[in-house]
Amino acid sequence: MWLANVILFLWLLLQIWFQKSRLGTIYKMQVHIFDTTLRDGEQVPGCKLNADEKIEIALRLEALGVDIIEAGFPISSPGDFRSVKEIAANIKNATVCGLSRAVLKDIEAAAEALKHARRPRIHTGIGTSDSHIKAKFNATREEILQRAVQAVKWAKNFVDDVEFYAEDAGRTDNEYLARVVEAVIAAGATVVNIPDTTGYCLPHQYGEKIAFLMNNVPNMDKAILSCHCHNDLGMATANSIAGVIAGARQIECTINGIGERAGNTSLEEVVMVLKQHQHLGLYTNVDSRQLNPMSRLVSDTMRMAVQPNKAIVGANAFSHSSGIHQDGFLKDAQTYEIINPDEVGADSSKIVLTARSGRSALAYRFRKLGHEFDRDEVDQLYAAFSIVADKKKEVRDEDLLELALNLGIKNKAEVTQ
Ligand code: KIV
Ligand code: ZN
Repeated sequence: MWLANVILFLWLLLQIWFQKSRLGTIYKMQVHIFDTTLRDGEQVPGCKLNADEKIEIALRLEALGVDIIEAGFPISSPGDFRSVKEIAANIKNATVCGLSRAVLKDIEAAAEALKHARRPRIHTGIGTSDSHIKAKFNATREEILQRAVQAVKWAKNFVDDVEFYAEDAGRTDNEYLARVVEAVIAAGATVVNIPDTTGYCLPHQYGEKIAFLMNNVPNMDKAILSCHCHNDLGMATANSIAGVIAGARQIECTINGIGERAGNTSLEEVVMVLKQHQHLGLYTNVDSRQLNPMSRLVSDTMRMAVQPNKAIVGANAFSHSSGIHQDGFLKDAQTYEIINPDEVGADSSKIVLTARSGRSALAYRFRKLGHEFDRDEVDQLYAAFSIVADKKKEVRDEDLLELALNLGIKNKAEVTQ
């Protein structure tokens, strides 16, 4: 019996080591992070960047650990062409990608802009939903399929790494989509992007679409599927995660989730979902400690504020203001925080004093100011605090010190810092 227990114990130790070691990482599957802040993200009105700003962001994205940087849409303007060209020349490790429509001269412009990239990728594609086929192209499904194949073959003349996007795949009939995916892989596509261009899908629908392709495209082992989800219904992150659970191995995303209309999948969210949910067996190469500095860089450069309640990078992502939460958090941070702010490069957690705050938070903030009070004093302070808090949105340190002075708890409340 004791021998069985020893074996069980050793086996458990081995499992823990395996999970934590590099071997555990190898055993997990990598999800490639394709950052499109500089292409889809930059399509936000008023957020246009100049070439120097783009290069600075691209270098920081590379340091962050993204696998692919979509640098722009070279045919769209001479400025974008130059930016892609300069980024291609400056980036050392990440793949640099340029967008094109399934139009030969677009593909040639992308190839030219990427000429000096160490790892170039052309991203070409066309709308595959019936709505796009009829309204945009006035074509048939067969014609679109031919154009898709022709575009991939043309791009293959310039680079080995060709990604095909089936625009509006979220609303494309799955049987037809599977035929398109099979044909572009046969033509040489290394990655096939399944965009939910309009942010229409529910997570289970998007996951089922990826699973359908994984199971019904005969040559699926020759390429990887990519998730490109928009946030029109607030489901871009959930849809991308459903996609990788179903077998996709690339997520297209932007810093702070910026992008057309309601934006794209947010990079920081998908990276942290995969990090928090290790049981999914998926990992990315992103260094999570750089997420908050990266978010600030993009927000400052684009002059686009991040909403305070934004997951991971919002100003309130690690703030606690209600009494129940503050009390729990002060006893053990894990009661109300699933991520340590250090892990994502955020400032340390904040206890914000509002009308919803409790005694433990008040005493804590006084302790931070260097003042220890006994229970009766905290009770007195709390009564006075509640009146001030009802009038103010947030009670600040100077208000607290004034409170203590007014109540005559003078000696202990003298400013010591
Ligand atoms: O949303 C979309 O479909 C796109 C493609 C151009 C990849 O951004
Ligand atoms: Zn998009």
